[in-house]
Amino acid sequence: MTPEHEPVMLSQVVGLLDANRGFCTGECIVDCTLGLGGYSEKILESMPDVSVCAIDRDETAVQIAKRRLAQYGDRFEALHSNFGDMEEILPESRRICAFVFDLGVSNMQLTEAGRGFSFGNDGPLDMRMNQTGDTKTASDVLLTLSERELSDIFWVYGEERFSRRLAAKIVKDREKGLCPRTTGELVALIRDVLPAPVQRKMGANPARRLFQALRIYVNDELGELEAGLSATKKLAVDGAVVIVVSYHSLEDRIVKCTFRGWEKEERLGNILTKHPLVPDDSEIEKNFKARSAKLRAFRFGGR
Ligand SMILES: C[S@@+](CC[C@H](N)C(=O)[O-])C[C@H]1O[C@@H](n2cnc3c(N)ncnc32)[C@H](O)[C@@H]1O
Repeated sequence: MTPEHEPVMLSQVVGLLDANRGFCTGECIVDCTLGLGGYSEKILESMPDVSVCAIDRDETAVQIAKRRLAQYGDRFEALHSNFGDMEEILPESRRICAFVFDLGVSNMQLTEAGRGFSFGNDGPLDMRMNQTGDTKTASDVLLTLSERELSDIFWVYGEERFSRRLAAKIVKDREKGLCPRTTGELVALIRDVLPAPVQRKMGANPARRLFQALRIYVNDELGELEAGLSATKKLAVDGAVVIVVSYHSLEDRIVKCTFRGWEKEERLGNILTKHPLVPDDSEIEKNFKARSAKLRAFRFGGR
């Protein structure tokens, strides 16, 4: 079965790209988070004068998108890499008029049990977006970090109130030779630690916060976002736009503060979204993942 991913806020993203096209002479749009190619496809289809250079650190996603978008020939190029490394990997000849980021994981990654992202599907506790590198898996992280480090990760990246208790339980089990190796084992450990009334309040997802925290840590998601935004500043030509769709407050804060700094302190251009754009009710009804999306955009240059 072909994996699927419903692109979030697609019409707003393409609308902004289109509306700002006239400000910039560049001819290449960088899709920094290719996934299955939903954004790239719509851009290639609706903006015939541009080419798309796309990046993803998930090799499977790159292969699938390459096959899906082969019909666009040399207007589409897909690179297997981190967007934080954009400066090194993008061909120098490209004149870039826009960068688009759609952060987090795709539905394909979430629903495939073997990737270990989902607390709903039992599988190996992996969580690496790039399974070809030497990054530690989530299971390695639980096995090797100190109690203090684990507790900080759960608190800072997951705002998990029971971070200390959870870290203590993991380390205590570890000393007995036990450590969660699968998503199911980690969910069971969380259920063992969290008080019953808290679990009842959280409904079916008592593991959500800890899974989010581990995923952010394993993939250095916030460091990558900072590096990616900083690279756009160096690569953009006058009039180029940066559009970011984010899904939690830690990411959104980085985007908001970076754009503010660029506008107010560095005077590099203008914020195009005074308030973040959000999906409308009908999109949220169709696609539950969209409910937490926030879109912010910035345009480089003085015009
Ligand atoms: C939400 S999906 C993108 C979906 C895409 N817009 C679409 O419509 O099909 C996010 C993708 O970004 C990739 N990704 C996340 N962080 C990345 C990074 N730092 N560098 C490269 N790719 C990254 C993930 O592997 C995932 O495939």
